[in-house]
Amino acid sequence: MYYLILSLALLAHLNSSAVCSRILGVFPSSGYSQYLLAEPLMIELAEKGHEVTVISAFETRNVTNLRSITVPMPVDKEESDSLYKLQDLNIFRNLEVFNELTLACTENILKDTKVQSLLNSNESFDLVIVETFNNEGHLAFAKHFKAHLVLFSSQALSQWNAELVGNINLPSYLPTPFSRSVPSMNFMERFINTMAMWYDKYLKIFYHYPAQQALINKHFPVKYKLEDIMYNASLMLSCSHVSTSGSISLTPSVIEVGGLHIKSKGLPDNFKSFLDSANEGAILFSMGSNLRSSSLSKETIREIVNMIANLQYKVIWKFEDLDLENKPSNLLISKWVPQNDILAHPNIIAFISHCGMGGTTEAVYHGVPVIGIPVFADQFANVLRLVRMEMAVELPFQQLSGKVLQEAIQEVLHNKKYRENAKTRSNVMRDRVLEPLDEAVYWVEYVIKHDGAHYLKSSFSDLAWYQLYLVDVILAIAVIPYVIFILIRLMGKLLT
Ligand SMILES: *[C@@H]1O[C@H](CO)[C@@H](O)[C@H](O)[C@H]1NC(C)=O
Ligand SMILES: *[C@@H]1O[C@H](CO)[C@@H](O)[C@H](O)[C@H]1NC(C)=O
Ligand SMILES: *[C@@H]1O[C@H](CO)[C@@H](O)[C@H](O)[C@H]1NC(C)=O
Repeated sequence: MYYLILSLALLAHLNSSAVCSRILGVFPSSGYSQYLLAEPLMIELAEKGHEVTVISAFETRNVTNLRSITVPMPVDKEESDSLYKLQDLNIFRNLEVFNELTLACTENILKDTKVQSLLNSNESFDLVIVETFNNEGHLAFAKHFKAHLVLFSSQALSQWNAELVGNINLPSYLPTPFSRSVPSMNFMERFINTMAMWYDKYLKIFYHYPAQQALINKHFPVKYKLEDIMYNASLMLSCSHVSTSGSISLTPSVIEVGGLHIKSKGLPDNFKSFLDSANEGAILFSMGSNLRSSSLSKETIREIVNMIANLQYKVIWKFEDLDLENKPSNLLISKWVPQNDILAHPNIIAFISHCGMGGTTEAVYHGVPVIGIPVFADQFANVLRLVRMEMAVELPFQQLSGKVLQEAIQEVLHNKKYRENAKTRSNVMRDRVLEPLDEAVYWVEYVIKHDGAHYLKSSFSDLAWYQLYLVDVILAIAVIPYVIFILIRLMGKLLT
């Protein structure tokens, strides 16, 4: 009897240690909408029995097996307003600004006392998940804890994340963040994209990487070398999908899990009754969590409110200043909107959005046509892809006015193709082998099970730039006829 109990206990112990791993998640970006994409994965891993620790700028929901280390990123209203100004900057200046911003996000996490005590504790982890956000210094978490590394990208594949897992990142093909083009690109687009990519590389090599290395040296107990850790991730989970981001070449080390965050949480009563009674249809207007609608100019706000008052539809506007003047009865304003559940409501007929990755994915999932007003980062490319799919119109932010917005609404509602194409895309997104959240969990466990699964990565990142662009081969081809010509002349001379 004693032996039976002992062996049962041993078996239970073996079983639990076989399935339960210690996982650390590091999510540095200051945007709540980015974290909303990652949080469900960390919660799901905890619910599967793993011991999960999450470092992020935002509090994670209280669930068992999950410890949340919150490191708020100081973002004030002024900074959030200045995000609109990014829109006026050219792609090169945008890249500079973003490299600075992401450096600040990297340091914010590393210098935190709670993070420091974790780094100096004797805790260990089997796997570290790091959000890629130009925060190469954070990849040292995996090295420090001698753990496997999985990357998480809240954006589609781009120059910034592709090469980290050995995916092809040719500028003729892949847009640079802030680029206003997507494949297929014409000559001018490829030209600008290539210049932007090389400029970003220049910034990285001469400023950004040395600064990231300095952060590692300053904040980690050991000075890990950036070049040793940069390309050692096992795989990347990317919040993209063919339904939102189109078809692109992916190595087996890039797993598309776009839509993993979509889950109905139930619509609060005030939104539900407002939408239920929208017999002519309703429109959702939200610029996301980073951009404040109330920061638009007074004149623009007045025009938009007047325009809405004359619509036969109802409108829900994420608007932070609740003392809005002359608010018409068909307009509901709220500081926070349950975006996914609103888009799921059958009376929703259009979505006015800045087109961050989360909102773009939700619009596609629910088959809602979009009026895209992109402002920064990947938003331009996200809108452009929806425009190419003919389920959206783009409205340049500089031109935003009541009249222009009204015209865009009319176009999207009166031309049936937008709604039909949105429905087609929605079907593509929903028809999957595995639910994207289950797929993400599967691959995280796969990496642990297969001791890092480093065989998934291609050797693409081993190539030097001149090998990648075949400069050496092209030079050889150019030189060979010349060498033959010289040899023939030499032989001719010798024979005469
Ligand atoms: C989290 O939940 C546990 C039990 O469900 C509770 O004891 C604890 O106080 C909660 N923590 C927070 C921060 O809410
Ligand atoms: C880790 O440190 C704690 C105290 O800080 C100690 O009680 C524990 O035994 C240590 N664990 C190991 C594996 O060294
Ligand atoms: C790369 O990661 C694996 C774990 O997946 C680790 O064993 C190995 O030491 C790492 N390589 C370097 C150079 O850090």
